[in-house]
Amino acid sequence: MKTVRQTAKEKLKGYCRVCPVCDGKACAGEVPGMGGIGTGASFRSNIEALKAFRLNMRTLHGAKNPDTTIELFGQQLSTPILGAPITGNPYNMGGALTEVEWSEAAVQGCLQAGTFACTGDGADPAMYDSGLAELKKVQGKGIPFIKPRGQEDILKYLRRAEEAGTAAVGMDVDGAGLITMALKGQPVGPKTKEEMKEIIAATSLPFIVKGIMTVEEAVIAAEAGAAGIVVSNHGGRVLDHTPGAAEVLAEIAAVVKGRLTVFVDGGVRSGTDVLKMLALGADAVLIGRPLVIAAYGAGAEGIALAINTMTNELKQAMILTGCASLEDINMDVLL
Ligand SMILES: Cc1cc2nc3c(=O)[nH]c(=O)nc-3n(C[C@H](O)[C@H](O)[C@H](O)COP(=O)(O)O)c2cc1C
Repeated sequence: MKTVRQTAKEKLKGYCRVCPVCDGKACAGEVPGMGGIGTGASFRSNIEALKAFRLNMRTLHGAKNPDTTIELFGQQLSTPILGAPITGNPYNMGGALTEVEWSEAAVQGCLQAGTFACTGDGADPAMYDSGLAELKKVQGKGIPFIKPRGQEDILKYLRRAEEAGTAAVGMDVDGAGLITMALKGQPVGPKTKEEMKEIIAATSLPFIVKGIMTVEEAVIAAEAGAAGIVVSNHGGRVLDHTPGAAEVLAEIAAVVKGRLTVFVDGGVRSGTDVLKMLALGADAVLIGRPLVIAAYGAGAEGIALAINTMTNELKQAMILTGCASLEDINMDVLL
């Protein structure tokens, strides 16, 4: 990973400093870019919220070879760690990788690690197109996320995901305030429960709502027919001064877990962070910025290496907290 990070530092010059800890401090306000919006407080909250939890160590038990496999929407994955949807290589990362090269690295790298990438959407149609094209090449093994566009547009984007045979499809509803999309003639906005129902009923694919930060909105997603949610503040990139995802996860998961698949993202940097998120009630986690660094450092192999490293750390942390499988992980591992 050291070599990967060194190469990434050169290729991301001017856009990401590849800090020893990716915590949103040096890049506060750098949106577009890799940072968090405004003061960077929401990005930092993600990191601080995770840091606030500590782990209870237990070694007198039989969890000798923990199982990290998970079944998601009928697909067997080797790890509960997925790639988060990320777009905008030209303006967020400086363009040393094209959108197509990034999408290929993300989709292939995640598959190499036995898991799925999510792909994103943006003002330039090339964003959604390149992610979906890569997913199509691998029989849809991944999850495309659509911005909260107009209803008619969303239906068209959904049809294309269905044609690609993706495992599920989602919408980052927290993209609702993106003025850049409106400026480029592709308006986005918040969705009512009725509109969400209409969208979700219009597709045969399991539907995931990304950007949920309150219990009330998790319940709305469930009542609208969603199969899953992503507890997320969009990596702190859309609204300044939000709590961290790990801060609100437990209360949300307590209400909807079992009824919805609960994903979470924001500030997950290690296997112990993954363990904390699962203990707080997540079924699986998404990783954002660390996979950008991995891809800029070594393409698909870099991404596979980063995910495998975190999965190994997770395994080790499961041994040291007495969890033989992901189902064994609960609040007891937290202090
Ligand atoms: C450069 C960049 C671009 C992103 N683009 C998208 C996107 O197109 N769609 C989306 O749903 N989320 C997008 N996100 C948010 C990520 O999916 C994810 O929520 C966030 O990065 C998780 O936090 P982390 O980077 O601290 O792991 C983006 C994040 C970054 C850093």
